Amino acid sequence: MDVEQYLETLVPKRPAELAAMEQRARAIRFPIIGPAAGHLCYLLAKLSAARRIFEMGSGFGYSTAWFARAVQENGGGTVFHVVWDATLSQEARGHLGVLGLSDVVHYEVGEAVAVLRRTDGPFDLIFNDIEKEGYPASLPVIAEKLRPGGLLVTDNMLWRGRIFDTADRSTATEGVREFTRLITSDPRWISSLVPVRDGLLVALRR
Ligand code: DHB
Ligand code: MG
Repeated sequence: MDVEQYLETLVPKRPAELAAMEQRARAIRFPIIGPAAGHLCYLLAKLSAARRIFEMGSGFGYSTAWFARAVQENGGGTVFHVVWDATLSQEARGHLGVLGLSDVVHYEVGEAVAVLRRTDGPFDLIFNDIEKEGYPASLPVIAEKLRPGGLLVTDNMLWRGRIFDTADRSTATEGVREFTRLITSDPRWISSLVPVRDGLLVALRR
């Protein structure tokens, strides 16, 4: 058993619909954050008592489900589900409805940075999982919309090891590298890269 499989065994039993979403992701090879990172997102949203969460790049709603469960338990609020693909948005409505989370989810179809730019803040927590070439340009917009003391959680900051491959100059890999440089060298952020699954960077906005 590898570390990721072990971490998954420590995640409490989850609703059947969430497990079905994990099966669907495997079947269509869709890159969800998975149970260990999902449970960490749930914990971070609970710790920060988040009521307003904005997700950038929500897929068919797997990460949304973990954040929305926390928001419900925190007393209610809104999780923005934002994805550019209308089919994925529809699929998410189905899953999150079955999970009983519809009352705390708001759906937007569009490019996530553009949607965030035109949406009123502030947010308690922003989750960033957009296309990696877009990471650097997303940071100023996120910084503007997050409340002081708010959390930014960014997926794929280990990028399956591609960041260590000096021959890899692809725009996606360079995007992850540049975003890492920007946020770790900016004194307005306190950040830590948690090596769960593909690396979740957790950052506190001072
Ligand atoms: C991949 C994984 C992700 O979590 C993502 O957001 C995009 C791509 C991947 O492994 O290719
Ligand atoms: Mg991701």
